Amino acid sequence: MTRKKIVAGNWKMNNGLQETEILINELLAETNHSGCEVMVAPSFVSLKTAIDSLNDNDIEVVSQNVHQSNDGAYTGEVSAKMLSSIGIKTTIIGHSERREYFSETHEILKNKVDISLQNSIKIIFCFGEELKDRKTNNHFNIISNQISESLFHLSSSDWNNIILAYEPIWAIGTGETASSDQVQEMHSFIRNFIAQKYSNELAQKISILYGGSVKPNNAKEIFSMTDVDGGLIGGASLKSKDFFSIVNSF
Ligand code: PGA
Repeated sequence: MTRKKIVAGNWKMNNGLQETEILINELLAETNHSGCEVMVAPSFVSLKTAIDSLNDNDIEVVSQNVHQSNDGAYTGEVSAKMLSSIGIKTTIIGHSERREYFSETHEILKNKVDISLQNSIKIIFCFGEELKDRKTNNHFNIISNQISESLFHLSSSDWNNIILAYEPIWAIGTGETASSDQVQEMHSFIRNFIAQKYSNELAQKISILYGGSVKPNNAKEIFSMTDVDGGLIGGASLKSKDFFSIVNSF
């Protein structure tokens, strides 16, 4: 089964417009990325500039977040409808930083998923356990709960628009990566969990990315695992050389 391979850079709250333009020009200079789809997620203020600059290139510009309503009195928020109006076709939902610092619950994330799909926006859905969950051997429960609560109401055809990203919180921005065996074990668990609810055929088609301190020196090993279909990259995506070294790690 050949699944879509994807490497997505999550810039988080980094890079103003000038830094965005510099990084984009560096990305445009890197032409060798035939092995996978490449995505970058700048902040809201830079999305349109990034889209305009990368439009004719095969690097997709994606959003880091989306609000769960189409419009209304939600000061400071950005809707799927607005994202769609500037040409965004994919958004990240459920990143652990959104869950933790912005109190995004399973229910809120479910609503974000629904409104994105209604606006024809695909989703990179993130989830991951804390260190204490792994230490108490509760990590599989946590992950299945995060997936089922926000995604298991979807129809089989909706899943054509879902990319999953397993990001153990203890490995995000810490320099500590899950071992390739731990990653493979979890990705295989996730695929089986989806197969049980839907079908093996559907589960085999879902791209499951790993995120959490992926760097040029560990990407190859992680990406070589059977059930790993790419990565969601934070820190290392801010340096074009490192990012492309990861992109070319398949
Ligand atoms: P990191 O972030 O690569 O800096 O660990 C990953 C993420 O949060 O998506």
